[in-house]
Amino acid sequence: MTVIPAHVPASHVVDVDVYLPPLIEELGFHRAWAKLQADNPSVVWTPRNEGHWIALSGEALQQVQSDPQRFSSRVIVVPKSIGEGHGLIPTTIDPPEHRPYRALLNARLNPGTVRGIGETIRHTAIDLIEQVRANGHCNFTTHYAEVFPVRVFLAMVNLPEADADKIRHWAACMTRPGMPMTFDEGKQAFFDYLGPVVEERQAHPGEDMLSQMITADMGGRTLSRDEAVSVCTQVLIAGVDTVVNFLGFILVELAEDPALRRELAAMGENLTPAVNELFRRFGLVTIGREVRDDIEFHGVALKAGDMICIPTVVHGIDPAQNADPLAIDFTRRRAPHSGFGSGPHMCPGQELARKEVAITLEEWLRRIPDFELAPDADLSPVPGIVGALKRVSLQWPV
Ligand code: HEM
Repeated sequence: MTVIPAHVPASHVVDVDVYLPPLIEELGFHRAWAKLQADNPSVVWTPRNEGHWIALSGEALQQVQSDPQRFSSRVIVVPKSIGEGHGLIPTTIDPPEHRPYRALLNARLNPGTVRGIGETIRHTAIDLIEQVRANGHCNFTTHYAEVFPVRVFLAMVNLPEADADKIRHWAACMTRPGMPMTFDEGKQAFFDYLGPVVEERQAHPGEDMLSQMITADMGGRTLSRDEAVSVCTQVLIAGVDTVVNFLGFILVELAEDPALRRELAAMGENLTPAVNELFRRFGLVTIGREVRDDIEFHGVALKAGDMICIPTVVHGIDPAQNADPLAIDFTRRRAPHSGFGSGPHMCPGQELARKEVAITLEEWLRRIPDFELAPDADLSPVPGIVGALKRVSLQWPV
């Protein structure tokens, strides 16, 4: 617990570990954040994780994440002493230097590319569901969620499926406290693994996404070996843990709400529009920004170098942004949220994520329309940058 600095008013101090917010055991991840938001000013300060601010209102969160002039991405993880070592491209680079890297990613993760791999995604989903359908039971977390996005990603970059387990492990070490490897060790393991792959693709590029990034023109030059390793590590950790845990939250919700299952199943083949409402309601990424200069913000004085956390969930569930925000309503016409962030760092993988979730739901509900939580389910929260549930076990009639 950090000593409260002189510029922080006592009225704005709350005891919050952003990776395990108060009452999370009782209320669950999203309702725990909703309660914190309802009970506090729009910006608060916590002594946990070396002491930092938290944007709690949708408006404050949106302002922080979309304003790189005042809030830098140089450090995006608390505690700051750990976040300082993150250094991955493009997440920890501010505009204008950030732009060419983003152009590179946007070009490889655009809607056309995602449409092109739709069949790979669908085959992967069907294969995994069919493996358990006849059993009437599965640990959805380990059997499906942890396998599916890694398999899709490995297919996109043409790496062997057999490497999925270690990749997932390193990603978890970089995003969760209390893992067997530190953040730096996890990152080093990624770099050691990807370095030779990048060298090989530089010498003999193929048709895969990694080769395309390595050989793409970036204003008269191509990515260096180390830059390519860094970008690829970032895409891997950003695109795996998020989808894994988002799917976990959604399947729990569906297991507990037969009407919601029927509503989605009735929508048939194309669930992509409906999925946006789920991303609004179930935001799960908590990152941060470093304050650049001394400023006044929502009635408090932020000092240069302070960290401010942005739990993306609070935007979509803020009643000032969306009426009756905890209700899932597929007919909402406008549903502002920050599930994928906003501003220059807004998720370049969102088309892929939407497609992965939509296809999972389409294929799951077609084959297993009715299911419930199994007795061995353990919905205890797992702390980390990405909200998570320990074990989503499901059962259904066969
Ligand atoms: C449930 C799914 C996902 C969620 C909720 C999610 C959420 C986010 C959020 C909130 C950010 C903004 C971070 C910031 O402002 O600092 C982000 C950035 C990013 N995401 Fe995603 N993401 C998801 C899936 C994916 C996928 C599938 C990929 C790629 C395969 C991906 C790749 C990235 C990358 C590379 C960045 C960094 C972009 C930058 O710094 O410019 N994400 N994501």
